[in-house]
Amino acid sequence: MTDTTHGTIESHSLEVESYPPSAEFTAQANLNDPAVYWQAAQDPEAYWAGRARELKWTKPFEEVLDWSNPPFAKWFADGELNVTANCLDRHVAAGLGDRVAFYFEGEPGDTRTITYGELTHEVKQAANMLTALGVTAGDRVAIYMPMIPETIVAMLAVARLGAAHSVVFGGFSAESLRARIDDARAELVITADGGYRKGRVSALKPTVDDALALAGDGQPLSVEKVLVVKRAGNDIEMQEGRDLWWHDEVASYDGEHTAVGFPAENPLFILYTSGTTGKPKGILHTSGGYLTQAAATHRDVFDLKPETDVYWCTADIGWVTGHSYVVYGPLANGATQVIYEGTPDTPDWGRWWSLIEKYKISILYTAPTAIRACMKVGRQVPEKYDLSAIRVLGSVGEPINPEAWRWYHEVIGGGRAPIVDTWWQTETGAIMIAPLPGLTRLKPGSAQVPQPGIDVNVVDDQGGRVDRGQGGLLTIRRPWPSMVRTIWGDDARFIDTYWAKFGDQYFAGDGARVDEDGDVWLLGRVDDVMNVSGHRLSTAEIESALVEHNAVAEAAVVGADDETTGQAVVAFVILKSQQTLLSEEEAEAALKKHVASAIGAIARPRQVFVVNELPKTRSGKIMRRLLKDAAEGKEIGDTTTLADTSVMQTISQRMRAER
Ligand code: WTA
Repeated sequence: MTDTTHGTIESHSLEVESYPPSAEFTAQANLNDPAVYWQAAQDPEAYWAGRARELKWTKPFEEVLDWSNPPFAKWFADGELNVTANCLDRHVAAGLGDRVAFYFEGEPGDTRTITYGELTHEVKQAANMLTALGVTAGDRVAIYMPMIPETIVAMLAVARLGAAHSVVFGGFSAESLRARIDDARAELVITADGGYRKGRVSALKPTVDDALALAGDGQPLSVEKVLVVKRAGNDIEMQEGRDLWWHDEVASYDGEHTAVGFPAENPLFILYTSGTTGKPKGILHTSGGYLTQAAATHRDVFDLKPETDVYWCTADIGWVTGHSYVVYGPLANGATQVIYEGTPDTPDWGRWWSLIEKYKISILYTAPTAIRACMKVGRQVPEKYDLSAIRVLGSVGEPINPEAWRWYHEVIGGGRAPIVDTWWQTETGAIMIAPLPGLTRLKPGSAQVPQPGIDVNVVDDQGGRVDRGQGGLLTIRRPWPSMVRTIWGDDARFIDTYWAKFGDQYFAGDGARVDEDGDVWLLGRVDDVMNVSGHRLSTAEIESALVEHNAVAEAAVVGADDETTGQAVVAFVILKSQQTLLSEEEAEAALKKHVASAIGAIARPRQVFVVNELPKTRSGKIMRRLLKDAAEGKEIGDTTTLADTSVMQTISQRMRAER
C-alpha cells in the first residue's frame, strides 16, 4: 500500500514515500478524527485538564497550569492523587483484578503471570514493608535491579508512599551508582543478588557493596538499608544490620494498605541522564502531570485497547522508556504486558519473535538499534514465527533510518502494522512527537507530528521559526504536563541547560527539519551528547573517566556513526610521556576496560586510538568535529583554524592504517 506523495526535505524537492493508514485501522482507532489536533491547539490547558480527569483524583484540581515562575511549571497543583492507586487499586475496584498485568519471561525460560489483583497485593505488602523500614513521603529510594517483576513492585511501592525512586540501570558501575545515590541522598537501596544476561548470571549486589564502600562525595553516606531480592541465586555477602532479604522481610506484612493522595507536584522519581558536562543530571518528574501525559500518549500513540491488546515494550526499566511505557503509562491504562529479562539473542536470535508468537503480542515498542541488529541476522529468523497478532509497531531512541523502517514494517509488521516513530526525552517524560496511527500518513524516518496539546517548533539561532523545508533547532514553547520540573538540587543548571539559550522556549538539544507538509524530521543531537544504541552518553563524562586513568594525559571522545548502534564511542588519547609500562595496544585495551568499569559497559569505547597530539584551535579548544570525521573515515574538512595543521594528517593516516 505504498503511496508516494511529494513532501520535501530541505528546500529541494525530494520524493518521500508515505504510507496512509488503512481504512480498517482508522475505523477502529481510538483517535480517528483529525479535529483532535486543532481542538487541543485552541486551548491546550483545557485539553490537558480533560486528559488529567481520566485519572482518579483523591482531591480534584481546579488550577490547571501555574506558569507564574517560568521555567518552573506546576500542573494541577491544588489536586491530589496517588499514582500507584491509579495504576492498580483503581482497576481492581473496577472489577479488573483478574486481568493480566504482566506475563514475565525470565531469560532462562522461567515464567510468571501476574494479574492486576496479584500485583496490587504485592505492592501493598511491599509498601507496608517499606513503611516499617522508615520510608515516608519525600524520601528517595535507589533501585538497582534486573528486569524482573519485583523491580516494578518496588517502584510502585515507593510511589504509593509518596516517596521518590531513583532507578539506576543495572549496567552502571559502582562509581556511577554511588554518584547517583549521593546526589539524591537515597536512604534505601533495593537491589537483587543478580539477574540473567546472555545465558549467564550477572551479579548486582556486589556492585552495590562496592558502591557503598567508595569514598563518595565527602558527605556521610545516606544509605541505611539495602533490600535484596533473590533472583539468580548467586553467592553474595549480606552485611549484618544493613542488608535484608526482600522475601524474608515482605513475608511478615499483610496485603492491606490504604493509599492516600499526595499533591500533584509531589516528586515521583529522579532519573539520571547524561548532559554536556561530566556530571549526570538528576531529572525530576512529579506526579499528576507526568501520569496524565504518560497515560494519554500511551493510549493514543499505540492505539491501545486494554481489553484485547498484549503490549510489549522492550526497554529496560533503568531508562525513561521503561518508566513511562512499561510502568506508569501502561499500568494507568490497565494494559496487559509482556516483560522479558534478557537479551534478544539468548539462547538465539529467535527469542523475541518466539515471545511475540507465544503471547500473541499485538503492540511492540522497541529501538532502531535492535531492529538493525535483527536485520543483520536476517529475515529468515523472524519469518519462522507467527507474528500475525502484531497490529502496531513503535520506535524510540534515535531517528529510525528508512531502510530499518521498511524492514520493521514488512518483516515484523506484515506490511500492515503502522509504525509510530516516537520522539521524546528523559526530560519530556512522555512522547512529544509521533504519528497517530489512525490518522497520520506515515513517512519512514520522520517522527512527524507533535502530539495534540504539544507545541513543538523548529527555530533558528535567534529562536524564530524556520520556514518549511528548512532545518534548525528543536524547541518546545508551551509547558507540557510531563515536563522535567528541575534538575535535582540544581535549579541553576536546569535553567542554564534548557532555557538560557532562548529564554521562553525549552531547548531540547536536538537538530530538526520541517518538511513542506510541516512534518518534523529529527537530525540528532547538536551538543556533546552521543546516542549509542538509543542511550545517551556524555563526551565529557567519558573523557573525564579516561583522564582519571594514570597512563592518560589527555583525551577526546566523539560519537562516530555506526551501522548497528547508531553512534559508537571513539576515543583519542595522549599517553603520559613518563608512562612506559603499557604498549599502545595494551593501553588501548586497558582503557576500553577502564571506561566500562568506571561508567558502565554501555560506555565502553568501540575504539581507542593513542595519538601524539589532538587537533586544537589556537585558543586551545579541541576540534572534536575533525576527530569525528576521521573516526568515520571521511575527508577531513578545513583545518586552517588549527594551531598545528599537521596533526589531523597524522591522525587520519593512523585511522586509515586501522581499516
Ligand atoms: C534521541 C529516550 C530521533 C534524541 C526516550 C533525544 C530520538 C534523545 C528519538 C533522548 C526519535 C529519542 N527520533 N531521535 N524517535 N527518540 N531520540 O533521554 O536525540 O534517553 O534528545 O530518551 O534521544 O534520549 P533519552
